[in-house]
Amino acid sequence: MEGIFITMEGPDGSGKTTQIELLKTYLEEKGYDIVIAREPGGTAIGEVIREVILNPEHKEMSHMTELLLYASARAQLVNQVIAPALLEGKAVICDRFVESSAVYQGIGRGLGVDTVYEVNNYALGNVKPMLTIFMDLDADQGIRRKKKQAELDRMEQEDLSFHERVVEGYRMLAKLYPERIVPIDAMLPIEEIHKKIVDEVEKRFFAK
Ligand code: TMP
Repeated sequence: MEGIFITMEGPDGSGKTTQIELLKTYLEEKGYDIVIAREPGGTAIGEVIREVILNPEHKEMSHMTELLLYASARAQLVNQVIAPALLEGKAVICDRFVESSAVYQGIGRGLGVDTVYEVNNYALGNVKPMLTIFMDLDADQGIRRKKKQAELDRMEQEDLSFHERVVEGYRMLAKLYPERIVPIDAMLPIEEIHKKIVDEVEKRFFAK
């Protein structure tokens, strides 16, 4: 069996985690061993980097430092987890990946999408997502959902206009790369979203 690499993207609070769990069950039923990873993190080194990036006390972090730290955590995840799993024919589902950097650092922070992809090429090597699901949700809705949950991390504490740029960035990328990035309305009921994701997966990986 060939490996499958799917990434899940969207603003904070868009319901990615719930959908990842449902997709995992579906792919298990298809006979796949599943690896789920989250970014930043997913490895011991990556989790330490995550603490550094998201710590609300690190207000002085430069945008370039932030970009490089996300890329470092990603390099480790690709090398230690994703590439080996794909070689073994597993299905890898990643909660955020390079598109998060493209929109949060490239557009939100203003570093530029091209710069972000260029830097990340070193982290990715030849490992590229085969399908990216974009949970499309207006920024204010996402923030509202998050505020109900827990303390906000350094990224979540950014103002609404930052998160609006992020969502617009995702919408732009989905238009630029329609063959890979599929937007799905995150306001739909959970089961309906899952069905749409399954349709995309069937079409791409299991169509005869
Ligand atoms: P999480 O809350 O989904 O675990 O993600 C942590 C935060 O990091 C979230 O606000 C999005 C942000 N982020 C970036 O800014 N760039 C990236 O490359 C990634 C992976 C996440």
